[in-house]
Amino acid sequence: MTTGGGRMPAAPDPRAASDSAAASDAAGRAPAGNTVLDLRDVHRTHGSGPAAVHALRGVSLAVRPGELVAVMGPSGSGKSTLLTLAGGLDSPTAGEVHVEGQPLHALDRRGLARLRRRRIGYIFQNLNLIGSLTAVENVALPLELDGTGVRVARRLARDALTEVGLSELGDRFPDQLSGGQQQRVAIARALVGQRRLVLADEPTGALDSQTGEAVLRLLRRRVDAGAAGVLVTHEARHAAWADRVVFLRDGVTVDSTAPLAGVEALLSGSGR
Ligand SMILES: Nc1ncnc2c1ncn2[C@@H]1O[C@H](COP(=O)(O)OP(=O)(O)O)[C@@H](O)[C@H]1O
Ligand SMILES: [Mg+2]
Repeated sequence: MTTGGGRMPAAPDPRAASDSAAASDAAGRAPAGNTVLDLRDVHRTHGSGPAAVHALRGVSLAVRPGELVAVMGPSGSGKSTLLTLAGGLDSPTAGEVHVEGQPLHALDRRGLARLRRRRIGYIFQNLNLIGSLTAVENVALPLELDGTGVRVARRLARDALTEVGLSELGDRFPDQLSGGQQQRVAIARALVGQRRLVLADEPTGALDSQTGEAVLRLLRRRVDAGAAGVLVTHEARHAAWADRVVFLRDGVTVDSTAPLAGVEALLSGSGR
């Protein structure tokens, strides 16, 4: 399988904190090129009245190019909600979400769909592969929907499948692939093309630990190449791949820390 070739992530950038603060202060545009994802005091309430569920209660988070942020927290703390808002799959009840300087609330449906297809890669907890399409077709689909010619889209899809170690299996249908292989197809689909924001919701859940680690390596590599990443995980050894860890509890961030451990420590511990 193709892996990261041992590339180490850069040390956390001490400028991150001040830039994030600046981005959150800005009344209008986020500084494009500086902040790929900018959540500004985001709230998401389901329902109303006494039955209302406050999934998020004022979360701010800025993620810059080359930065992978892990989000941890107990079940029900709002992790998936945060990702669906960041990915433009749902809208906040208050607050703003900006992606590459664009406030998502200012986009119409088509504009939002285009931004999602071009710029945002989303690795869901459930895979959402289309059963009647081959692996290559599944991966090429977002590009084709966006107007890329079929031949180019398929070539890029094969490149992305090679990146996840599935170069030989592109013509198989999802039900002819193992769970781990399906997950890697879904990841190839999230990485294909020029995705600037990669969102992953417990992407290693269905995988054995070796495949899970390979997935994190791919995510890390894409982020090192200039994307911004948000990884929801409940495993500390996965969060250790991130530059920063944000903890959620009851819809608010309770803590934000430097990485739990260096990747060197992670790698030396992973051979057990
Ligand atoms: N569509 C929905 N309708 C009502 N409540 C929801 C909905 N989606 C999420 N919630 C609630 O919001 C809270 C946060 O959910 P979620 O973001 O899925 O948490 P996590 O991913 O951390 O487990 C939970 O209490 C959940 O039950
Ligand atoms: Mg969840």
